[in-house]
Amino acid sequence: MPLTGKRILIGLSGGIAAYKSAELVRRLKERHAEVRVVMTESAKSFITPLTLQAVSGEPVSDALLDPAAEAGMGHIELAKWADLVLIAPASANTLARLAAGLADDLLTTLCLATPAPVAVAPAMNQQMYRHHATQDNLATLARRHTLVWGPAQGAQACGDVGPGRMLEPMELVALIEQHFAPASQPKAQPLAGVRLMLTAGPTREALDPVRFISNHSSGKMGFALAAAAAELGAEVTLISGPVALVTPTGVQRLDVESAAQMHAAVMAGIDTQHIFIACAAVADYAPKTVASHKIKKTAADTMVIELTKNPDIVANVAALPNKPFTVGFAAETRDVEKYARDKLDRKGLDMIAANNVATAGQGFNADDNALTVFWPTGQTELPLAGKAELARHLITLIAEKYHDTH
Ligand code: C5P
Repeated sequence: MPLTGKRILIGLSGGIAAYKSAELVRRLKERHAEVRVVMTESAKSFITPLTLQAVSGEPVSDALLDPAAEAGMGHIELAKWADLVLIAPASANTLARLAAGLADDLLTTLCLATPAPVAVAPAMNQQMYRHHATQDNLATLARRHTLVWGPAQGAQACGDVGPGRMLEPMELVALIEQHFAPASQPKAQPLAGVRLMLTAGPTREALDPVRFISNHSSGKMGFALAAAAAELGAEVTLISGPVALVTPTGVQRLDVESAAQMHAAVMAGIDTQHIFIACAAVADYAPKTVASHKIKKTAADTMVIELTKNPDIVANVAALPNKPFTVGFAAETRDVEKYARDKLDRKGLDMIAANNVATAGQGFNADDNALTVFWPTGQTELPLAGKAELARHLITLIAEKYHDTH
């Protein structure tokens, strides 16, 4: 039992998902973990401390300046006791307080005082989750190595549909088990010492100060690949177009807008890279001129915008004298193999990952994807899976082919 004797501090903040935390505590206790629960004031509006005391078998702590509690296990002692702190649910407000480094209640104080890793399982309305403030707070926390687990997409208690659902108790248990696994079974690091650069997301090609040409790429596949490569030990540089995603742990991220900026950022750092993966949906063309003021509507019924070709980033990388192992993507709506093989040859790539974006639920902006991967002497299918799992399979394949050729 990987959790036997592990000391897990579960923090609850205010959210309807708090009812799932009792189940989470039970499942952890079943796995012989030692569990202590800390609640914020607002968490107690959703579930009673008594319920959590019953399932954890320990007194529940909720006050920072409570003489009785301090006489038992004081807050510093509790912070030192934990092997892992998991805040589930983590409300938008609690994430903001953690990002700001506040210590205005027991839970936030513990997070500052603990030497243990802190994980958060965000749970909130989808609009609150998407808000830039929340996204910035999550990015800040991730940069400080807080583990961000979830949220999931789907129907919400408030009737909305979207990202913001707390992960299910068993999904959190699996993540906790994975978190503790490395000590006993160290993860293979086939990309240790390898520098890997990738592009992700869409580009924006400005027409005037307020308008641009872009596409529906969410950046999810590129970010999942960056996370998977970092997990396998690579030193990862992620060059991203405008996306609403949290930077994966351990990944160095550079934000750009246009194809020209993405091209410049790639070329500035490519010399030292061993592997390059072009996952971005780069605009093929950009407006020839960018109006310095907002373009006005005229009496004419049509408007012509002249476009010029953008640099083909992946083809330019593949043409370098000391080129890295170069991987491209092909999003096709028909004749996938024919177009992908043609692109592999024409752009001089080492590998190309092709998906059929005409299939509903796959590719652009979807959470699942399936790929057919081609290289000069072979091909393989990576079947439909969540983008994180698919990314792990693709990175493993890239690592294998990279080592075969180097
Ligand atoms: O030619 P096409 O756009 O279909 O090729 C797609 C592949 O080329 C992707 O890997 C994409 O990231 C890359 N690409 C690029 N620069 C461009 C256009 C595409 O790196 N200007």
